[in-house]
Amino acid sequence: MPERCLFGHIKKNPTASFVINDLNSGIMNIYKAIKGDVSNFTEELDRLSEEYLVLPKGETNKALEKSLEKDWVKLFQKNPCRRYFYYRLRDQHAFEYETWTKTKEAAVLYFLMKTGFNGVWQENKNTNNRFGTPSGLLNQKTEVYDIENVLKWSRALKTTHIMTGDFPRDALRGWRGFLRIFRSSLSRLIHPVRNRL
Ligand SMILES: C[S@@+](CC[C@H](N)C(=O)[O-])C[C@H]1O[C@@H](n2cnc3c(N)ncnc32)[C@H](O)[C@@H]1O
Repeated sequence: MPERCLFGHIKKNPTASFVINDLNSGIMNIYKAIKGDVSNFTEELDRLSEEYLVLPKGETNKALEKSLEKDWVKLFQKNPCRRYFYYRLRDQHAFEYETWTKTKEAAVLYFLMKTGFNGVWQENKNTNNRFGTPSGLLNQKTEVYDIENVLKWSRALKTTHIMTGDFPRDALRGWRGFLRIFRSSLSRLIHPVRNRL
């Protein structure tokens, strides 16, 4: 999501409505939660951050991880550290998400993306073909995410229609979708972004 680009468009066209779309439903679910349920979204993130930030980083221990067959719950019990917190949470996001609210699923994925390797998106067989990126450096000091930025996004997304689909196939399926895309493209054409935020 080109953040600066969307903010720039909204600033320049305060009365226009916008459409954002991506095939990746996990990512679009994050935008939906930030738009429609931001207080529960940030509450979940604050809870995770609080638990995570007090933990030591933890090192890879191949022998132990092998002996416990990468059972991240057991590994976290044995050694409560950020590394095992991350992989336990990644596993829960992969296999337990159906028992969660959509907002919790979105907040957990956002947390994983903030603490995962370099913002990379990877899906693995062993993570149920869901988010499977390895952990990042795990060296956050006082915060995992910027709450002010999330609240800014929440306000910006109020005039944005969020879609999950294959563009242009799904977007053009109905006339309403077509008109939304057309209006958004036209507005972009008429009001090109000059000063990006
Ligand atoms: C390189 S990322 C760009 C992400 C973001 N739009 C940006 O500009 O920073 C490409 C994105 O395109 C999405 N994508 C690929 N093919 C698509 C399609 N046919 N319809 C909708 N989204 C698609 C992928 O899921 C991925 O999130």
